[in-house]
Amino acid sequence: MKNIVKNTGDVIRSQFGAAAADYATSDVHAKGESLARIVILTEPQPEWRVLDVATGAGHLAAAFAPHVASVVASDITTEMLREAAKLASSRNLTNMKAAMAEAGALPFDDETFDLVCCRLAAHHFPSLERFVSEAYRVLKKRGRFALVDNVSPDRERLPNASDAEIEEVITAYNAFEKLRDPGHGFAPPPGVWMHLVEGQGFSVVAREQFGKELEFASWVERMRCAPNVISQLENILTDGVSDLRTFLQPRRDNGGALHFMLQELLLVAEKPA
Ligand SMILES: C[S@@+](CC[C@H](N)C(=O)[O-])C[C@H]1O[C@@H](n2cnc3c(N)ncnc32)[C@H](O)[C@@H]1O
Repeated sequence: MKNIVKNTGDVIRSQFGAAAADYATSDVHAKGESLARIVILTEPQPEWRVLDVATGAGHLAAAFAPHVASVVASDITTEMLREAAKLASSRNLTNMKAAMAEAGALPFDDETFDLVCCRLAAHHFPSLERFVSEAYRVLKKRGRFALVDNVSPDRERLPNASDAEIEEVITAYNAFEKLRDPGHGFAPPPGVWMHLVEGQGFSVVAREQFGKELEFASWVERMRCAPNVISQLENILTDGVSDLRTFLQPRRDNGGALHFMLQELLLVAEKPA
């Protein structure tokens, strides 16, 4: 298991290290509907201590910082931590500090934080179970866990597909993501997240789902995809498994640029008293 964590971490650090500056300016990360919604639904309080796991360029940590006492913006990629620190300094967020931390082994004491949040990153983690269990451990009683991540399709998205077909699309969707980003682990469907979070002992207090449209060219550019990978991904969108295309809804705009949809799940959950 140790080797899996190390190898995955190395792939991630090299992918995200090279792309850190792009994540600082990416609209999907710096803006995005889920960024404002997660803050509203979490109801942050002025005395809260917050931990943002896999902060990337720090957009979520910076969104919470004006509302709370302190925010630790954590990640395993040094270049991303540098971007997060730059963002904090550019907005004069003196209560936001960057720290190295792996999602499955958080270097913090039990019951330290009032909120543990994580946006658009959990699909990289080697074990979602370990991440949820670590978030639970470092949260105070009645502390909140707030998650946003891309999810696989379920029956709601593909009402006409059989269970076996949905399983196939889940596999095909994750393979599509992994082709673009070798550090991609697994983005489960929403029901699996509910099962993991409630199974850990949290109560879910808010759940929303958003469709977000991505521009194909900048999506592949952020991950520095090679030309042959770009054409394979483009083929999947224009000519791949039909249920996957139903989920991804590819379209060309008037200028011929390719776009497609992903689904983001937002969950806010509370640790019992
Ligand atoms: C897409 S970026 C995060 C975006 C950011 N949370 C936001 O809202 O804009 C994904 C981040 O996950 C980090 N990451 C991946 N695996 C990780 C792990 N096991 N533990 C901590 N951070 C990890 C990467 O280094 C990268 O910075």
